[in-house]
Amino acid sequence: MEEIKGLRKYELPPLPYKIDALEPYISKDIVDVHYNGHHKGYVNTANTLIDRLNGIINEEVKSYDIHGVLRNLTFNINGDKLHTLYWKDMAPEGKGGDKPGGKLGDLIEQQYGSYEKFKKIFTEAANSNPGTGWAVLTYDKENSNLNVMTVENHFMNHLAEMPIVLILDEFEHAYYLQYKNKRADYVGAWWNIVNWDEANKKLDGLLE
Ligand SMILES: [Fe+2]
Repeated sequence: MEEIKGLRKYELPPLPYKIDALEPYISKDIVDVHYNGHHKGYVNTANTLIDRLNGIINEEVKSYDIHGVLRNLTFNINGDKLHTLYWKDMAPEGKGGDKPGGKLGDLIEQQYGSYEKFKKIFTEAANSNPGTGWAVLTYDKENSNLNVMTVENHFMNHLAEMPIVLILDEFEHAYYLQYKNKRADYVGAWWNIVNWDEANKKLDGLLE
């Protein structure tokens, strides 16, 4: 990593598959715009803001709005983190979809009764999420709960100590080119490419 004084910059992580790998459920054009446009944009803007913050810390920048800088930085850093999770939580057809096995599959059955009931609740949460945001499954170590939650915009309360096990992007840029205003169709298609191995890996890491 580049040695600099001050806060370090972020790098766009590689897409874990080819740009057309999620077709037919998510088109190549969407992944291109979403990854090379939006995700890259969050990383670039976060780095511009880190330059500014470093300037503030080093007292080179004298006039600034700290609330604005940090709010924008939060939005853009979280934009990078949330999208990195989102890409990994999907896999090409044949490798993704089906049902979760392992400890995640067991815990879902234990807490939701069945995978089908869990899928129904997650889908309803996703479809009821107003405006821009995310549907997520988090794990609360305190009581071993898998919580279906919705996140507005990019503002996840990381202090809540509930890491994300599974995430679905619900911003219009994630589906509009292909699904137009039929967000529920995108949510329904997404289940075919959920990377349950990755979700299980994350849960395993939290259970250690
Ligand atoms: Fe997105």
